[in-house]
Amino acid sequence: MASEVLVANEAQLFDRLDEQKPDALLQLIALCDADTRPDKIDVGVGVYRDSAGGTPILRAVKKAERILWETQQTKAYLGSQGDARFTELIRPIVFGEGLAADERIVGLQTPGGCGALRLGADLIAKANPKARIHVGQPTWPNHAPLIECAGVEMVFYDYYDREARRILFDRMTDALEAAAPGDLVLLHGCCHNPTGADLELDQWREIAGIVARRGLIPFVDLAYQGLGNGLEEDAAGTRLVVEAAEQALIAQSCDKNFGVYRERTGSLFVKGSSRRNAGIAFGNLLQLARTMWSMPPDHGAAVARIVLDDPALRADWQAELGEMCARIRALRARLAAYDERLAYIDGQNGMFSMLPLSPAQVLALREEKGIYMAGSGRFNVVGLSDDNVDLFAAAVVEKMDG
Ligand code: LMR
Repeated sequence: MASEVLVANEAQLFDRLDEQKPDALLQLIALCDADTRPDKIDVGVGVYRDSAGGTPILRAVKKAERILWETQQTKAYLGSQGDARFTELIRPIVFGEGLAADERIVGLQTPGGCGALRLGADLIAKANPKARIHVGQPTWPNHAPLIECAGVEMVFYDYYDREARRILFDRMTDALEAAAPGDLVLLHGCCHNPTGADLELDQWREIAGIVARRGLIPFVDLAYQGLGNGLEEDAAGTRLVVEAAEQALIAQSCDKNFGVYRERTGSLFVKGSSRRNAGIAFGNLLQLARTMWSMPPDHGAAVARIVLDDPALRADWQAELGEMCARIRALRARLAAYDERLAYIDGQNGMFSMLPLSPAQVLALREEKGIYMAGSGRFNVVGLSDDNVDLFAAAVVEKMDG
């Protein structure tokens, strides 16, 4: 009898789970792949596309992969910090030479920017189970579930007015002025996802001032460095807030700027209030990483390390990243020139902008024209090409009129 009850309870384990909807963005990839219309337009998921619609492997990455294949002698474990040389090379790219020398900043390799965000959120929850983080809306759809999973309380404020196509900077500063000392603030370092609407440098300065005055802790998501206005320009805001703050977290990704998406390549940096404090945070990061993924995947970081350690490959990577950035800017300018209602797109940065379309209008564009964009109206600017940018603009403007 007792063993029968035991079996029945065990059988119920997964019956306790709620059904989950598939991730909307990942589902969009599958839906678009399954569409056989030759003129479909994929402006869904955030990957770079060239003028032929492909996502090629970067020249320097391809060369580095060959070098790796020829020279790598072992695949033995590296440890929870991953490739330490990779993190050392990423550090000045993110912080600039001056701030990179700050010994209160520690870092380790993570599985992509997502892994960095999750590890950072877990560190926050471990340090303070009552921690709160202020999150501007809209934000990347995975931010909230990821932070929630780690158990950090979220407080939302409105960041962007989709209809007026502008940042609600007053709402942002009001929210941060009202935040309690020790509260965290999630910030998009550049190329805001999903709106493309970045803070101006003066606004970053103001945020840095509030962070310092109110004792807030920035948690910066820097996933698109180099795809907005250039590597240095795109890190300027991050550097200002990190410098101003006593403590900070920075989730960095190479998935986009090295085009190594599926290799999951990123890093998490933490600024402590002292060298000792940072060292303790680092020890905790290693321990948390060990329980989640033990060690990050090596390939993407090894390739990025080879590129960054070789002056010729590094120069070629920067040149190609510059070409990618210029292509995004040119597409933005072309959309903006098409109709004054799209003019705002040229003033925004990175892969994304957001159209003031309802979910029903987004669905209609998909069904009628084969245009695939997120339900929020977010679209990937660089999913367009010279051949279809005007068609896309015409379809969108027609829907706005409708
Ligand atoms: C995106 O926002 O499209 C990308 O960051 C891909 C992802 O993981 O959501």
